[in-house]
Parts: sequence; structure tokens; C-alpha cells
Amino acid sequence: MRVAKAGVVGAGTMGSAIAEVLAYNGIEVVLKDVDAALVEKGLGKVRAIVDELVRFQEARAPKEIERITELAGELSEGQRAKVTAKLAPKFTRARGDEVVARVRGTTDYSDFRDVDLVIEAVFEEYSVKRPVLEALDAAIPDYAVLGSNTSSLSITRLARGLKHVRETLVVHFFNPPYTLPLVEVAGGIETREDVVTDTVDFLQGLKNHRYPLVPIRVKESPAFVVNRLLAPVLAEACAALESGLASSRDIDAAMKAGAGMPMGPFELADLVGLDVSLEVAETLYREFGDPKFRPSLTLRRLVDAGHLGRKTGQGFYEYAGT
Ligand code: 3HC
Repeated sequence: MRVAKAGVVGAGTMGSAIAEVLAYNGIEVVLKDVDAALVEKGLGKVRAIVDELVRFQEARAPKEIERITELAGELSEGQRAKVTAKLAPKFTRARGDEVVARVRGTTDYSDFRDVDLVIEAVFEEYSVKRPVLEALDAAIPDYAVLGSNTSSLSITRLARGLKHVRETLVVHFFNPPYTLPLVEVAGGIETREDVVTDTVDFLQGLKNHRYPLVPIRVKESPAFVVNRLLAPVLAEACAALESGLASSRDIDAAMKAGAGMPMGPFELADLVGLDVSLEVAETLYREFGDPKFRPSLTLRRLVDAGHLGRKTGQGFYEYAGT
């Protein structure tokens, strides 16, 4: 599958970051949201993701010089020049500007008329995703592949009756996509086999800021692999908190220091968004009917209060300057 131009719908946390990964790999991207302000915000996120990589690369040589100086004393001019040359940024500011320039914002579906692939990353609710997929179905060319970044909904149901029903599939990225390489790919009942395998092959050839992407093929099943396992972890962490087993900080610390998780369950839920975490848990509970997936009351109340995690400045924790 050749993807020269891609589209992304939803310029939120995931949509902007998916657009950035595609643009980072040389693909022209159209990023759509419902109004100009949201599109601008999304493009700002793309810029911020790229800037972080530029800053990281620019800081490598000075950091290394500082480290060696601390260990072995002052370096000569020649030694400094050697380290600086060896760790010269591979991803320069100019390359960063090129990546940003590859992403074009729009509020208009007609800009998707020549895309090869489009990924919708709008809110995780059937009633929100389905109209977006219908609009895309009408806007994209016949040959284009229609991807959904759904974390838990049925792609068979989302795609039912679409003209592109056979070209529609799940392309599920993980937050943050510029660092985490996993992409879960799942076809629905009607999805063409070659569309699934071509999409996996296409993703296999891409990289994010850290790693080559790791697409895995999964069966269509609620929340696929990662969220199916993470949702009960969060539910049990909430149950532990509610029962007074330990504080949220200590539960997070325990899972990092004792289970090697990079983030504790509460920190992770705040990163993912408590609304998204709740939606995933509700889908799992509804679809499987198993109480191990029942979302906790603590999670529900936080969402009721509009405390959705990092994006609102408060979730299980408070975040300054959001
Ligand atoms: N290349 C190489 N190294 C880099 C780098 C780059 N581009 N940028 C930064 N680094 C270095 C940093 O300098 C730092 O080095 P140092 O420790 O020597 O200073 C080191 O990498 C660590 O950097 P960070 O502190 O920024 O931490 P990481 O980026 O490594 O990790 C994280 C951050 C990815 C958020 C990690 O904590 C993590 O993986 N958390 C779990 C997230 C997760 O599970 N997400 C999935 C949620 S489920 C989901 O999304 C599905 C949805 O549908 C709900």
C-alpha cells in the first residue's frame, strides 16, 4: 500500500500526534477538526511534538560534554568539537520545520478527496465516530483505506453499510504515539484481508521518534489487547484506593517500583484521559458482562466532575499550568 497523502480527523491529543508520526515519515497529512480554533490547537500540538525532538537532539552534545566533564574534568577544545560532531542533531530544526509543513489543517471534508489513508481519532463514542466515518466514506476516493483509532468500539458496527465497509479497519495507536510504537490493527467482519495485511505492512515501515512502529494484528474484540488488560488494572487500583489500602501516590509508586510499569495506573489514566478510560471500561463491561471490567465509582465521579486528567489539569492528580 502506497500512502503519499493521509488524512486524520480529530486534532486532539491522539489525532495531532498520529498526524505528526505520519508527517515524520514523509507523508503529506490533512488534519481536520470541526472549527478553525481546534485545528490551530492541533497544529500547535504537532509543532510542540516536533520541537521536543529538536530540543532533545540539540541537547545531546552539551549534555554529554557536561557528563564527561563531571566524571573526568574539563575537555579540551578538540575533545569538545569531537563530541559535538559525533552527537550533532540528526533531526535538525530545518527537518522539524519540514515535518510541521507537511501537516495542513482543514475544517472541510473535501480536502480528503485524494487521500490514500485516513484515520479518524475523534471522541471514543459510537454516536460521535459514526457520523465522521459516514462523512469520510463520502469524501475519500474509492481506493482509500478508512482507519479508526477506536480503543474499544466494534469496527464491524462502526463500518456497517459504508461504501468503504471492506476497506475499513481499526488502526489503534497508543498515547503518546511519538514514543510508544505499538499499533493494534483489526479488521471487521467485512474488511478485506489484503486491506488488513497491507495496512500492517505499511505501518511496519514507519517509525516514531524513538522506535520502528510495532503493528500487531488482533481479532476484532472489545478493547483489543492493551486496554483489555489495562482496564482491570485501573479498576483494581481504584478498588484498592477506595478500600484505603494505600494512597494513590503509593499505589502508583508500588506499580512502578515493584512491577516495572513506566507509570502507575492513576498517572496513566490521567495521561490517557479519565473520560476515555471510563468509556473503555464501560464498553468492556457491556460487551463481556464480566464484573472484573466494571468501572469504579471513583472514576465515574471524577468524570462527572469534569476532572478528566492531564488535559483538564485535574484527574487523580492535579497538574499545574495545563
Ligand atoms: N530518543 C531517545 N531518547 C529520548 C528521546 C528521543 N527522541 N526523547 C527523550 N529521550 C530520553 C530523555 O532525555 C530521558 O533520558 P534521561 O532519563 O537520561 O534524561 C529518557 O528518554 C526518558 O524520557 P521521558 O522522561 O520523557 O520518559 P519517556 O519518554 O521514556 O517515557 C512515557 C514517557 C512514554 C509516557 C512512559 O512513561 C510510558 O511509556 N508510559 C506508559 C504510557 C502508556 O502505557 N500508554 C498507553 C496507554 S493506553 C492507550 O494509549 C490506548 C488508548 O486508546 C486509551
